[in-house]
Amino acid sequence: MSRSFLEIDDLTPEELVAVLDASERPDPPQVLAGRGVALIFEKPSNRTRSATEMAVVQLGGHPVAIRGDEVGIDVRETAEDVGRTLACYHAAIGARVHEHAKLERMAAAVDVPVVNLLSDDAHPMQALSDLLTLRQHLGELRGRSLAWVGDYTNVARSLAIGAATLGMEVRVGAPNGYGPGALDVDRLAALGAAPLVVTRPAEAVEGVDAVVTDVWASMGQEDQAPARRQAFEGFTVDVALMDRAAPAGVFLHCLPAHRGEEVAADVVDGPRSLVWQEAANRMHVARGLLLWLFEGPEPERTA
Ligand code: CP
Ligand code: NVA
Repeated sequence: MSRSFLEIDDLTPEELVAVLDASERPDPPQVLAGRGVALIFEKPSNRTRSATEMAVVQLGGHPVAIRGDEVGIDVRETAEDVGRTLACYHAAIGARVHEHAKLERMAAAVDVPVVNLLSDDAHPMQALSDLLTLRQHLGELRGRSLAWVGDYTNVARSLAIGAATLGMEVRVGAPNGYGPGALDVDRLAALGAAPLVVTRPAEAVEGVDAVVTDVWASMGQEDQAPARRQAFEGFTVDVALMDRAAPAGVFLHCLPAHRGEEVAADVVDGPRSLVWQEAANRMHVARGLLLWLFEGPEPERTA
């Protein structure tokens, strides 16, 4: 049975570090030479599609991007049959879907790796990129702190689990009803990182090494945007909020960003923002994950 990657904790802590190391490996071997990777998108994408396509190319493979309505998961045929069919031609399948369960059913039905390119519940490829970006900036992440401000989205969930896995302190500042659920808190507590969850963003970001946010209305929630704008009033990450973080504290955002809503323009475009390094790293972690899946972890670092 192939290893799939549906959530960040599908990797052990050691495997997570190995994937981050593989993402920085120069001259990667052409493990996908002559092979295809199918990339299904039920939702729009700028970064994920291009980053993953180019990662496949860099490993010698051929990416085939497929719109969700072309294959019609659970509409034209079942998630299982979409996966079984694509596995006849491709070495791996990546998919961006609404219901996370579609990925789980597809992964259970096929003998090639299935990679989550974002679901309603999780965005582990983004978490890999965020953790790599933080590691490049801060060095060892154990003992460092991260504050999530705003909606506890798919991106938040994967990043918080990944950060906890690497020994980071996790804090969340979110309005009532938009923060982590009891299961999320339990999941982080099980990793030794019971999060501080508060409704005042200033409390969450006090002295932290990284402040992270995401849009207030995710893909599929567009009709809730006006209500959410009201609910998140006061949760904009602005310069005053960033000034409460550690003096060298940085800002991350998965993008797309809505300037003036979840983040002020002078933060996302300002000197503490790592968003373009974070976006560039989406390609490096896609290559690192595929390399790790097809070759196994790289030899231990000697330095
Ligand atoms: N961050 C991210 O996943 O961007 P896209 O939705 O553009 O792929
Ligand atoms: N939470 C956002 C992330 C986009 C990359 C969404 O799901 O739309």
